[in-house]
Amino acid sequence: MAENGRRDFMGKVFGGWAALGGLGVLYAAKKTWDPLPSVKAAGFTTVDLSAAEPNVLNVEKWRGKPIFILKKTPDMVAKQTEKETARDVIIGKDHFLVAIGLCTHLGCIPAYRPDKKNFLCACHGGVFDVSGINIKPPPPSPLVIPPFKIEGTKLVIGEEGPEYKKMKEAGLTA
Ligand code: FES
Repeated sequence: MAENGRRDFMGKVFGGWAALGGLGVLYAAKKTWDPLPSVKAAGFTTVDLSAAEPNVLNVEKWRGKPIFILKKTPDMVAKQTEKETARDVIIGKDHFLVAIGLCTHLGCIPAYRPDKKNFLCACHGGVFDVSGINIKPPPPSPLVIPPFKIEGTKLVIGEEGPEYKKMKEAGLTA
């Protein structure tokens, strides 16, 4: 009886540790997938970009799709073309790539390479630059820019703000 009681107790202790370990893994996964403070509601994802680090890819989720958010370094901004700058989401002095993280070839999720400062799609070797522009085939077009609205340091994905409409009219979003 006493032995059984002890086993129950030990089972609870280990069970508790296992649950805590599981939570730790979940927390780590959440940090990797969604490291910026964000709120998802009714088809909109609101992300606070004030804590974003340059050259670190953040992946948010909007309507089941991955959304890439990358704060550019001053060096990236200085080197880019006008066409690339026109695709930037600019908040204060900070430039961001905001794009749907699905390859425009057959829909795989490209991986960001911080050392090379580009995205490699492992499915068929396509490459996109830090503005989401396709620079190596087979992707036929740039990463798509989702509807967005800027509210202070926050980005509301799913709503068409004036900056997005301007990009759309210039044919830069799709
Ligand atoms: S799906 Fe990306 S290169 Fe084919």
